[in-house]
Amino acid sequence: MNSSIKPRSLHGPLSDPRYTGTVALRWHGNSLELLDQRLLPAQECWIALESASGVAQSIQDMVVRGAPAIGISAAYGVALAARKAEGEGWQAEIKMAVRELGASRPTAVNLFWALQRMEQVLADCVALNEAQERLEREAVAIHQEDLAANLAMATYALEAMGLSSGNPSPVSVLTHCNTGALATGGYGTALGVIRRLHEKQLLKQVYADETRPWLQGSRLTAWELMRDEIPVTLNADGAAAAILAEGEVRWIIVGADRITANGDVANKIGTYSLAVLARHHKVGFMVVAPSSTVDMALKSGAEIPIEERDGAEIREMRGVPLAPEGVKVFNPVFDVTPATLIDLIVTEKGAVRNPDAAGMSALFG
Ligand code: MRU
Repeated sequence: MNSSIKPRSLHGPLSDPRYTGTVALRWHGNSLELLDQRLLPAQECWIALESASGVAQSIQDMVVRGAPAIGISAAYGVALAARKAEGEGWQAEIKMAVRELGASRPTAVNLFWALQRMEQVLADCVALNEAQERLEREAVAIHQEDLAANLAMATYALEAMGLSSGNPSPVSVLTHCNTGALATGGYGTALGVIRRLHEKQLLKQVYADETRPWLQGSRLTAWELMRDEIPVTLNADGAAAAILAEGEVRWIIVGADRITANGDVANKIGTYSLAVLARHHKVGFMVVAPSSTVDMALKSGAEIPIEERDGAEIREMRGVPLAPEGVKVFNPVFDVTPATLIDLIVTEKGAVRNPDAAGMSALFG
């Protein structure tokens, strides 16, 4: 483990001049460095990984998290497996790594999407050195495309919000979990839209749900926004209804882990409650995600595998008990928001308003 403080550095040759902010992963050719998100905001500690197993474990343990970042990390994991492979069984070794990475977390489809892209490249390679070179190139492409998608989505989102022309007034928004640079190849999905609003001076403030139990909102989103001097107010998840009742917030903007063919969306637990609240308070509800999060093979959200994590995440915080020892816990870490509660799904391919099977198929069919 390599711990050091390396603020704001980019991934060397991968950098995109349009975004030079915070990143969560850096590729060095022979290793993948991940910013350990379990330790933020107290410590900025980078972990260097040289094997696919190390990457799979880091995804499972949430050193790296967020659907796109999980997919990008897994792709680099396959590139690392190719570097280590040798002898006649090199293809089998790489395929085994793909299986191990695929077993790390079940809900974010970006993981399986990225692994499938890597497998397609592998299937085309006849020699190990060819596979090593092409798999690395594919992982880098996945990484770069994700950043480019985020920048494109922000543009579409502002258009869809009616904020890209005329003389619009700044808005306040509410977000859940962390969908920023830490969860993606850079810039962010929902948080990318918020970043763009701020860049255009169209953001009054962001309310950030703390996002129990893992606290992606308080530990990561608040940290990321404060670093970039974007006005953020942190609130307990249970305060969202009271905030919406005040009437200041115009949009709830969230990310996604999987979007099915009818427009249902799996995202961080608590997202569904926010969509219900948004409808009650007549506040817009927008989901922002790259097309790598869209799973047209699943008809509806009922088919999405929802990850349940250890009850200790609810019972305790960093070893400090928060509940009676041994209490039974239900800890699904994602929920499914029905398409009927969603006003807009924005991807780099465009936006679907009032999503349903027809609208989704028109864009992703
Ligand atoms: O458990 P996590 O932190 O991986 O969950 C993350 C989310 O639910 C995000 O909202 C989603 O992955 C989109 S990140 C751009």
